[in-house]
Amino acid sequence: HTYIAIMAGGVGSRFWPASREARPKQFLDITGDGRSLLRITFERFLRVTTADKIFIVTNGKYQQQVMEHIPELEDNQILCEPSRNNTAPCVAYTAFKLHQLDPEANIVIAPSDALIVNESLFADNINKALTYTAENDALLTLGIAPDRPHTGYGYIQFLGEESDNGVYPVKRFTEKPDMETAKSFITSGDYLWNAGIFIWRAKTILEAYEQFAPEIYALLSQGMSCYNTPEEQAFINEFYPQTPKISVDYAIMENARNIHTIPAQFGWSDLGAWGALYNESPKDSSGNVIAGERVITEDVHNSLIRAPKDKLIVVGGVDDLLIIDEGDVLVVYPRSREQEVKALRKRASDSY
Ligand code: GDD
Ligand code: MG
Repeated sequence: HTYIAIMAGGVGSRFWPASREARPKQFLDITGDGRSLLRITFERFLRVTTADKIFIVTNGKYQQQVMEHIPELEDNQILCEPSRNNTAPCVAYTAFKLHQLDPEANIVIAPSDALIVNESLFADNINKALTYTAENDALLTLGIAPDRPHTGYGYIQFLGEESDNGVYPVKRFTEKPDMETAKSFITSGDYLWNAGIFIWRAKTILEAYEQFAPEIYALLSQGMSCYNTPEEQAFINEFYPQTPKISVDYAIMENARNIHTIPAQFGWSDLGAWGALYNESPKDSSGNVIAGERVITEDVHNSLIRAPKDKLIVVGGVDDLLIIDEGDVLVVYPRSREQEVKALRKRASDSY
C-alpha cells in the first residue's frame, strides 16, 4: 500500500532569479551533478518503491517539464493543479486521489528541494515511518537536529519518551517562527526542524482535513467519484482554485494532535534559499563560492557569485554577499538576508 507523492509545484522564489515562474528550481540542476532537483528526488525514492507507485503533484503548466524529467511516469501519475494554492490543497488532492485508488494507501509526501547525504539511511527511516503509520493513526514527519535559529522552517517540539522503535510523539508544531522564538527553541534543546517529508495513511490525513481544514475537505470531497476517471481534471479545474491558499504546516500540522516524528539521521539540507547552496558548496581560500568562468574578485570574502559563462563580472572590497546574475536580472544582497529575496521578487514582478 506504499505510495510516494512528490510536491513540485512551487515557484522557488527564494532562489530567484535562477528560479523563474516558467522554470522553477525543481527543474534546475542546482547542485551541478547533471540532474534536476526533481530527478534527484525521484531517484532517491526508487530505493523505497517502484516507479509506478511514485506520483508528482505539480501545477498544470509544469506537466510537460515533469514528463521530460521523469519519462518513466504514466499520465495518471502526474497530478495537475490549475492554480497555485500552496501545499494544503495540494496534499488534500493527493490524499483523495490515492485513497480512491487504494483505501489503505500509506503515503510519503515530500518536497522536491531537499538534499540528502546518506540515501540508504534515508530509505531506512522512510520504511520505519511507513511501518508505523500503517498500524497507527499518526501524522508522521521526519525531524532534523537543528544547528542554528532559522526562521524558514517548521519547528517540532518532541517529547523525550519514545513510543515505538525510534518514533516520538510531538507536543507542538510551530511553522516559521520569528527570530526571537527560533532562538528560544534552539536554546531549549527539545526542538527539531521539520524536514517537510510527511508520512501518513490517506485515511488519517483526510480525517485531519475534515477536522482542521473543513473548507478544503468539503470542496475536494464532493467529487470523490471523479478521482482516477476521465472527469478528474475537469472536477479539479473547477473546485481546486476555490480552496484557501495555505500551507499544510499551518493548516494541519500546527493544529493536529496525533503528530509523531522520527529524528532523522541521514544528513539533510534544504535547498530553500541561496545560503543553503553556499553552505553546501566547496569554497575557495577566501570562502567564496563562484560559478562563472569570467569572474574577477579582489578582496571579496564569504560570498556566492553566479554569473553566465560569457559575462565578465568584477567584484571588489565586499564580504558576505549574494551576487546572482541570471538572464535579464541581477540581484545583489547580503547573504544573511536571503529570506528577503522572495519579497524582492514579488516587488520586481511575479512574472519574472
Ligand atoms: N504541487 C504543489 N503545489 N507543490 C507546491 C506548492 C503548490 O501550490 N507550493 C509549494 N510546493 C512544493 C514546493 O515545490 C516544495 O517542493 C514543497 O512544496 C514545499 O514548499 P516550500 O515553499 O519549499 O515550503 P517551505 O520551504 O517554505 O517550508 C516547508 O519546508 C520546510 C523544510 O524545507 C515546510 O514544511 C517547513 O515546515 C519545513 O521546515
Ligand atoms: Mg522549501
